[in-house]
Amino acid sequence: MEIITCKDNEELSAKAAEIIINKVTEGPNAVLGLATGSTPVKTYENLIQAYKDGKVSFKNVTTFNLDEYVGLAPDHSNSYTHFMNEQLFDHIDIDKEKTHIPNGLADKSEKESEDFEQKIAEQGPIDLQILGLGLNGHIGFNEPGTPFNQRTHVVELDEITRQSNARFFDELSQVPTHAISMGIGTIMEAKEILLLVHGVQKADILKEVVHGEVTEKVPASILQTHPNVKVITDIEF
Ligand code: F6R
Repeated sequence: MEIITCKDNEELSAKAAEIIINKVTEGPNAVLGLATGSTPVKTYENLIQAYKDGKVSFKNVTTFNLDEYVGLAPDHSNSYTHFMNEQLFDHIDIDKEKTHIPNGLADKSEKESEDFEQKIAEQGPIDLQILGLGLNGHIGFNEPGTPFNQRTHVVELDEITRQSNARFFDELSQVPTHAISMGIGTIMEAKEILLLVHGVQKADILKEVVHGEVTEKVPASILQTHPNVKVITDIEF
């Protein structure tokens, strides 16, 4: 793992955006794996600015998002589809047909997970996967205890995750209990991974991820075994 320590979230986001832009410039048909949550928001702002400045085009890029809540329609204000449209896709020249996010309203979430996995198999591999880090060490919604070889699947969200994400909802009871998440096995097949970690509240878990034992109790610890991971963080540890 290469650790890139930045002085603040601005620098972290600029660095992450620079790596993404270089990837798309080198290979305009790049396949990107994308994350939602607070962490990548500024990175996406930088991508939008670079597009507006004529420095990059996403016309031929394909994207796969890590996850979606089960039970939320794509246009629900808390769905990750809505998030991606608002934070990135609506402001760049990406072809929405080439953007893939699991459908939280699919009749059968298991079948939706299999179909999503199939699409990655057909259109992948993912050239560059962006990840955030959960307070419990999760990546995607792969909560502690998830087998490292898991493919895209339906997950029951950890209480810590639901409480942490309640900030985006009016109250905790509205936070869905399940999600569809790209599996750790799928994530590990990405050619390159950027783990973005912002904020001192994640210092302890980041230490475990980078220096601790590789264990399913800390899902992101598996990244120690991936050949091409950059951790970009504003945490001194
Ligand atoms: C989001 C995702 C999650 C988040 C993680 C950190 O698509 O898969 O793993 O990256 O929960 O969330 P934030 O950035 O809100 O702290």
